[in-house]
Amino acid sequence: MSLMAKSFLTIIKKVCLLIIFFNVIYLISSYIYYAGEGFGVEIFNKQQELIESLNIDFDSNDPNAEISTTNIDYQNQIELLLQDVANNANNEYWLTNTDLTNTEIEINPNHFLNETDSIEAWKNKNEIFYDPRLTMSLYINYLKNKFIENNDSDMADLEVPFDWIDWIDFSLFNIDLAKPVKDRKSCHWIKQFSEIPTNAENHVFQCIDNQELSPNAIKILGFDRHEQLPGFIQTDHAEQRATNRIRVSQGKSYILTHMPNPYKLIFLNKEGGTYEVQISQERNRITKSGLMNEYILNNYPEANQNKLTNYLKQSLLSPKLNLDPTKEFTSLKQRIKPLHVFESNNIDQIDPFNMYRSLHSDDINTNKSLPLPPDAFRYSDSLIDQQITLYKRLEGQRKLSANEQGFLESLELSKYYDTFTEPTYFKQSTLILGKDPKNRGDDRGYHYDWRFFNGGLNYQVKGWTSKELNTRTTIILDRLLRNWFRFTQEKGIVSWIMHGPLLSWYWNANMFPFDNDLDVQMPIKELVRLGELYNQTLVVEDLNEGYGKFLIDVGTYVHNRDISRHANHIDARFIDVDTGIYIDITGLSNSDAPVPAEFYNSGLFDIKKDFNEEIYNDRRKHFYKVDQLSPLRYTMLGGVPVHIPNKLSERLKFEYPKGLTRPEFANWFFVPKLGLWLRQDQLTKVLDENDYRIVVGENKEIKFDNEKIINLVIDMTDEEIYKLLKTDQAILSEYYLTRGYTEFHKKENEFIFKRIHDEEKKTTEVLDNDELITNPELAKQYMQFINSNVNYGKPLRKPLFLYEKIEQPKYHDDNELFSPYDEVFRQVSKEPKPN
Ligand SMILES: *[C@@H]1O[C@H](CO)[C@@H](O)[C@H](O)[C@H]1NC(C)=O
Ligand SMILES: *[C@@H]1O[C@H](CO)[C@@H](O)[C@H](O)[C@H]1NC(C)=O
Ligand SMILES: *[C@@H]1O[C@H](CO)[C@@H](O)[C@H](O)[C@H]1NC(C)=O
Ligand SMILES: *[C@@H]1O[C@H](CO)[C@@H](O)[C@H](O)[C@H]1NC(C)=O
Repeated sequence: MSLMAKSFLTIIKKVCLLIIFFNVIYLISSYIYYAGEGFGVEIFNKQQELIESLNIDFDSNDPNAEISTTNIDYQNQIELLLQDVANNANNEYWLTNTDLTNTEIEINPNHFLNETDSIEAWKNKNEIFYDPRLTMSLYINYLKNKFIENNDSDMADLEVPFDWIDWIDFSLFNIDLAKPVKDRKSCHWIKQFSEIPTNAENHVFQCIDNQELSPNAIKILGFDRHEQLPGFIQTDHAEQRATNRIRVSQGKSYILTHMPNPYKLIFLNKEGGTYEVQISQERNRITKSGLMNEYILNNYPEANQNKLTNYLKQSLLSPKLNLDPTKEFTSLKQRIKPLHVFESNNIDQIDPFNMYRSLHSDDINTNKSLPLPPDAFRYSDSLIDQQITLYKRLEGQRKLSANEQGFLESLELSKYYDTFTEPTYFKQSTLILGKDPKNRGDDRGYHYDWRFFNGGLNYQVKGWTSKELNTRTTIILDRLLRNWFRFTQEKGIVSWIMHGPLLSWYWNANMFPFDNDLDVQMPIKELVRLGELYNQTLVVEDLNEGYGKFLIDVGTYVHNRDISRHANHIDARFIDVDTGIYIDITGLSNSDAPVPAEFYNSGLFDIKKDFNEEIYNDRRKHFYKVDQLSPLRYTMLGGVPVHIPNKLSERLKFEYPKGLTRPEFANWFFVPKLGLWLRQDQLTKVLDENDYRIVVGENKEIKFDNEKIINLVIDMTDEEIYKLLKTDQAILSEYYLTRGYTEFHKKENEFIFKRIHDEEKKTTEVLDNDELITNPELAKQYMQFINSNVNYGKPLRKPLFLYEKIEQPKYHDDNELFSPYDEVFRQVSKEPKPN
């Protein structure tokens, strides 16, 4: 080697060393950064891994030295890209900031008083005002003062006024409400855009024209005059398919006029505990109940002296008042302690499986895996009768609450009907197909609660791109999951994820970007408890995280446990009332339903050994033995702490034969290096077309070979990964948000699964790792790993209100095409699930 070359090599080595040095510094600082960020994930030996991957031998003349240098560079460049996202200069990566901002709203309090003649007052207008920040501020302030008045005792017995009008956005009616009643959209309009014969009468689709209502009927519906109501009144669910717009209007008209109030209102608190009150069953909106009057009286003591309106006229307050629910919430928390399950004197009843107590323990040696006794899954006619007797006796002693009354009725109705005669409980927003090009992907509307439906997830609307709609969907699912598990974990109610979400957990502990199903299961005893205690409860997200509101709706016939013949497969739903999207909740219990042969044929059950075993089912034909579910494992999905069943690989393979091994689904590919599912069109931008293009048929048609793409994706180089992240801001943002969790999951997977590669057949089999049972040391490591990593970090996605109402409109570019690749990003389930 010449002298020149030698000194050149020395320089390269020095440069390499320097780069390593900076890398290590950088990684340490980024580790600190992530730890502070609340990812709750320890980035394991990251420095070590990186140095190993550099693969440089400084003492030899490694011919690959330069290639390796290239590699260092890309790793480093990737870290720099992530740093850019973290810095978020010019708010370029605004989607990655999931903080709740814009929490303050400025209003004129005069307009919300209940005794005023002002034509500006909402009480006297026909149009409807809605902003969750106003509603939340007034309610939280009201609760605080009521709790103080009652010396904090029996908080949960307090009853508050309520009207859906303050909790859901009805502003789409405002254009019509500004018109004379006769010019408003009527039942005729509904008929025009529904699959209804033109000669059908209005009652066929549960519609009444506004003008047909008597003044008394208007009063009964909680309004003062005809002008305050839309042109048509929806009295119940209409079976007939209709267009998107019609379905949204029908649901909202029903809620505005006929939907009963929830029974209970619960505010979640991310620091633990809840605030909860009963809801009066009479409709009573803010501009009638006087919550704004109360607010002024409570917060401006001098207002007592004068009449309120005079006070407002004279005071500096008028006409401006700044309300901020986060401030109200902080003030409530400072003054009143939330309700904590652990303070209850019957904790064993409230937390029967010790779930609350184990999850709320900080001890790193608390075993958070959750054993479920068979009794949790047992239900019988005699238990139903016992409960009826109990409630009847109670009814003789005192008036039952709305909740108790409803529960008693559900017991009696379940006895009255059987699976052949039961009416269907949950109703969807079935949409017209084929005639509406804006209904992208032919959404049939089976995936929305008809009452709260606020438009199809992919429905093409002005001012939105398909990408933005997709972001919206991601937000909705994230918040549903987060709030369901926060609620149930706070209340000691046991549930676990199953089906689609469990499969997506397997891949990267995140939700599939192409699915919108959220399924949880629970033992029948827990389902009945959910119905008894929390049916028709409106759960409000922690007000520092967003304004999400979720209705717990438990079907009437949950006490019947055989396979449903009338679409009562789903027992309960946790419904996002802003969108109509929900979590499907199903109970598992013993029943008379025969176990289908496929469960034996597949080996899930053993016909000899399991002959005497108890087997539990939901109302759709999913069957389980208790040891397939219990003890539940504790983990995270999308950064949300959740439980999952004990046995995983068997069941997932049964439900999704290729699910565990095929890293491709409907042109989405799993990229191991990023831990993300990406679309074919995103990947082909960085792959060489010659490597995956094939020419087929006589016409020499060019196609992309997914098998080839799968292999290219598995072997992706750092350079390709870097290019992906550099050129696609969405991928970079997603990687930034999720990588802490995918890192966690990679490690977790090593504990839970074992993979057996068959070199000859070129196959990999995924099995549950039995060593966790036989090796106590490994079990302990797994437990400590889980305990030190699983917790609630910051929400992974933005608050829906902030995104929909403030930021998406702000950042939307009108020149952008609705769908640049003319495709629907997320396939909405097209059919009701097969039975
Ligand atoms: C709260 O406590 C005060 C003083 O101890 C008492 O005068 C008042 O009656 C109590 N109020 C209620 C509703 O119990
Ligand atoms: C107005 O609200 C107050 C509560 O501050 C209430 O006492 C009063 O009865 C309400 N007036 C009407 C007409 O409903
Ligand atoms: C839940 O509430 C609804 C509405 O009142 C009622 O129809 C249903 O039967 C209730 N379910 C249970 C289990 O109580
Ligand atoms: C935790 O409990 C489960 C049973 O619920 C058991 O299988 C597991 O081995 C326990 N882990 C440790 C570390 O004791």
